[in-house]
This record gives sequence, C-alpha cells and structure tokens, in this order.
Amino acid sequence: MCGIVGYIGSRQAQDVLISGLARLEYRGYDSAGVAVADGGQVVVKKKAGKLANLSGELEQQPLPGTLGIGHTRWATHGLPNDTNAHPHTTEDGRLVIIHNGIIENYLSLKAGLIERGHTFQSETDSEVLAHLIEEAYAGDLEAAVRAALAQVRGAYGIVVTHVDHREIVAARTVSPLVMGVGEGEMFLASDVPALLPYTRDMVFLHDGDMVVLHDDGYRITDLQGNPQERPIDRIDWDAEAAEKGGYDSYMLKEIYEQPAALTNTLMGRLHDDTGEVNLDISLDPTAFKRISVIACGTAYYAGLVGEYLIEQLARIPVEVDVASEYRYRNPLVSEHTLAIVVSQSGETIDTLEALREAKKGGAKTLGIINAKGSSMTRELDDTLYIHAGPEIGVASTKAYTSMVGAFVLLALWLGRARGTLTDAQAQELLRATRELPRLVEEALNPARVAEIKRVAEKYAQARDYLFLGRGVNAPTAFEGALKLKEISYIHAEAYAAGEMKHGPIALIDANLPVVVVATESHLLEKTISNVQEVRARSGKVIALLSDGDTENAAHADDVLYVPRAHEMVSPVVNAVALQLLAYFTATYLGKDVDKPRNLAKSVTVE
Ligand code: M6R
Repeated sequence: MCGIVGYIGSRQAQDVLISGLARLEYRGYDSAGVAVADGGQVVVKKKAGKLANLSGELEQQPLPGTLGIGHTRWATHGLPNDTNAHPHTTEDGRLVIIHNGIIENYLSLKAGLIERGHTFQSETDSEVLAHLIEEAYAGDLEAAVRAALAQVRGAYGIVVTHVDHREIVAARTVSPLVMGVGEGEMFLASDVPALLPYTRDMVFLHDGDMVVLHDDGYRITDLQGNPQERPIDRIDWDAEAAEKGGYDSYMLKEIYEQPAALTNTLMGRLHDDTGEVNLDISLDPTAFKRISVIACGTAYYAGLVGEYLIEQLARIPVEVDVASEYRYRNPLVSEHTLAIVVSQSGETIDTLEALREAKKGGAKTLGIINAKGSSMTRELDDTLYIHAGPEIGVASTKAYTSMVGAFVLLALWLGRARGTLTDAQAQELLRATRELPRLVEEALNPARVAEIKRVAEKYAQARDYLFLGRGVNAPTAFEGALKLKEISYIHAEAYAAGEMKHGPIALIDANLPVVVVATESHLLEKTISNVQEVRARSGKVIALLSDGDTENAAHADDVLYVPRAHEMVSPVVNAVALQLLAYFTATYLGKDVDKPRNLAKSVTVE
C-alpha cells in the first residue's frame, strides 16, 4: 500500500497533490513527498512521517508549477526515512518517479544497474525504476517507461515525469490507478477520494494499462503499445462512500481487497523455480526446538492454522496460546523457544505483554504483523509483515487471510531450512500458494456471493449457530463463528468436528443451523460422517464444499461451493465464504458491521 497522485493542468500542482495525498493517507503514512515541474526543472520535497510534516514545510516555501506527482508511503523495502521517501530521481534529477507496489526482481536489476555505473540513493525497490527508465530513455519518455517495465517482475502503479516533457506517463499492474478527466487538466490517483474535489469523471485503468497525460487529454495503451479503450465513469459517491470505495462498509471493501492483500503478502517471497521462500528475516531457522504462537481473537485463530502448517511441513512442536492466558500462566520459555506473536495492529496490550513475558524467559521473537512501526515491531527480534494494508472495519477480514498466508510462507521456509520438505513437495506447495489471490478472487465471484447472501438471509432469524471443521480447517470454523457473533450478535459455537459427539451434539435440533467446513481434504469422509450425525438429529446443515462435489451436496440442506484449493492453503479460501455469511446476516438484521457494539478495533487496555 502507498498512495499516489499526479496532476497536469493550470492549477498550482502542489495544492492538488497535498489535498489528494491527505485523502490517501489511509494507504500509508511512513513518509510523503512531491515533485513539481516548473519551466525546465523538477523540484522534489520529501519528508519522513505523516503528510503534515511535508505540508507544513511547503506552506512556508511553496513549489510553483502546474505539473506534479506526489506519494504517501507504506514502507516495504527500506526504513521509513527521508531518503527512502518517494519521489525517486535519477542522478541528474531530470527524471522523477513514484511507485506503489513491490518490484520482485529489484535486487538483480539493481546489481546490473550498479555494474553499469548507476548510483543509488535509497534502499527501496522502487528506485530501480528511475534508473531503468533513464537507461532506456532516448528522447521518448513513453517508450522508455515501456522498455523499463518489460524488465520488471512484480506489482506497480508507477507515475513518471521528465524535465524535457510536459507530460506524465503512468502504468499499472496489480496496484490500483484511477485517472480523473477535467477541462484542460488531468489527474491520477491510487483511489477515487483523492480526486473528488476536482472531477467526478474517472477512468479506472486495468492491469497492464499505460497512459500518457497531457493538459488537454490522454492516451491509453497496453504495455506493448496497442491502443486501449476504457470508459469514463461518472462517480456520484459522497465523501464517505468514496472512502469506502463505493462499498456499503469498510468490512465489505476489505473482504473484496483480499486478492490484492494476499498478493502483497506473497510478493517477492516465493521462488517457484527453486522451491525456496525468501522472508528477509535474520532468524536462524535451526536455532530453536519449539515454537509458542501467541495472539488474541482472529489473530489467535490464524495462529491455530499456523500450528497445523508448521507441525506438518517443518515438524517442529508448536503450541498456541491466547495472549491474556499466556502472560499469567508462568509459561515454560527458554533460549530454545521461538515465540511468534500475531497481530494486525501490533498494539494489542495482551499480546504486547505476552511478548515481553516470552522475551524475559529468553525466547527469540518473531512477529506476524500488519501495522508498520507499531509497538510490537519495536520490541521484536524480527517481523514478517503481512502487507495487507490498513484495516478499518472492526471485524478482521483481510488481515486474517494474509496472516494465514504468512504462516504458509513461514512453514515452507522452516520446512526447507530444516530439510523436512523435498524439492518436489516444496514446489507443489509453492504453486498452490501462488494460486491464492486468484482463488480468493474466484471465491468472490458474483454468483457465489449471491448464494451466500441467500443462505445468510434464510437463517438470519436463528438464535444460535454451530460451526464445525477438522484438521487445518478446524480454525476456519472457529473464525467463522467469531465473525458471525461479533457483527450479527447471534450466538455461535465452534468445535473441531470430531468433538461434536462429546457434548455439543446435545444442542442440535431443527432450529440449529450447522455450518460444516467440508472441503477437499484427507479427513473429508470423517467430516461427512459428522454431517450425517447432524442430519440424523434434524439439524440444518450448511456445507462448505469444494467445487464439483455434488456427491456430498446430497447430505446438506444448503451448499456453499468454494474454489478447490490445496488442503494446506484451503483455510484462506474457505474463510472468505464465512466472512460473507456473517456480513450478509448482520446487514440483513440491520447491524452496523464496521462498528459492532462493545468492540474496539484495537484493544489497548487489559
Ligand atoms: O490487532 P490484533 O490482531 O492484535 O487484534 C486481535 C483481536 O482483538 C482481533 O482479531 C479481534 O478479535 C477482531 N475484532 C476479530 O474480528
């Protein structure tokens, strides 16, 4: 996540850039920067920290000029300091770029550029783009950007300008980019709200689009230079709706952001050719004998999936604790323990205190965290960021699936390093992991969503719900129940399906909807037996089945089909259907899903 803005026209560019960036600060606030062109020179100003640091300075010393680009950063490569802030320039300062995304092959590109005499100022992946474009530049900026992007692997929304051209060249792959069309002026941004004060006519650029902006128009092509037609959409959202991207709630927006969030979690970390995973952490994968995972709420359920994955793939003993229990139970910790804390906010007080407890006992510490620079990250030995972007809805959605994605990476990394995974097994799992953003996109297709809505409304008057799952998907059931209760206020129990006979079976009657996660797995037959047991007691079965499983559909009252995924990564795909089930139940009952009663996004008191 980063926010980008571009402007060409007759207004003072600085004003447009600062007001646009202010509306994009939710995308990152590690640093902010602008570049403004004025008659043969481009002046760059950038500052670490929130936008206010930069805008304060610009108020004192404005940058005159009517063409400019601006950026607000969510750091991925390199510390959040002034140097790593965007825009980035070439050595002569004549070419300027801003970038949102991750350039996966930047290390090899950078090595080549240095060999050919380029000097780098920052530690970012983005700076390679400036030097690659410069190298390809022979008077035609558009052609140079195209040639540079042909060498790049990864995600980008990139915006470029050059002192010799009154034009802006931009392109996108994965990272979003929207263009605003004005009268004698043109705009670019990562998201609609940045442009609403200036224009409501927007063009949503597609993956692989390039655009050249002039004062009085634009031209869209693909990355090979073939012309592309894109419609101009008239946006009539009010300011609040715009922040939610046109969705009814942040929660729904964040559910739909999951393919992009997962792409960011995985980006640059998987190497299919070798079966290796690169996590960019200093932890010695052989320097501990056991792992303690510590977290709260949804993050705790991600930890339970992590336990399963790490034990299966890396054969290391793992225990998972609720942080509020861990810190007071005098846990057995030693220098042979790796403590993994999991947290979206990085601020949850119970998890933070549990981290301190683990450190006191001599454990090495690793965090699976979303929020950059949060309190936990300052105390951890190592952090594996999930890069899901800001999560505003109180009910965690995209952070959960990205946390599970991070655990998949970690389990693979440990398995490779400790020799418990063969090349073939690692490559198969890597391929399955790489598929996740596409599978989640598929899980969100309109026909599936409509069916989940229908089922949610059918059972919305139920007083209680039961959720069941097995193996790596037992936590999927726990998380599904938590989502339902926190936003719809319907009581929901969740059990590992095999436990049902040991008590909860007494709850089952004709009024109890029972959600059973019964997707493709080595335990599927056993799960289906549990489905039969529910049916035999007149319970209403809502089965989550893998696409094409018509045989088991016969045992259910309602079926929610989900895309087929490798068992080890299936919790990510399955969670999406249960998030939507909770969402549609709550909205049908008229609940405020973004601000459920009694809850706070980040629990910083004990
Ligand atoms: O910020 P954290 O991940 O540490 O938060 C942990 C829990 O408070 C959080 O997951 C909570 O359970 C959510 N409301 C669940 O949707």
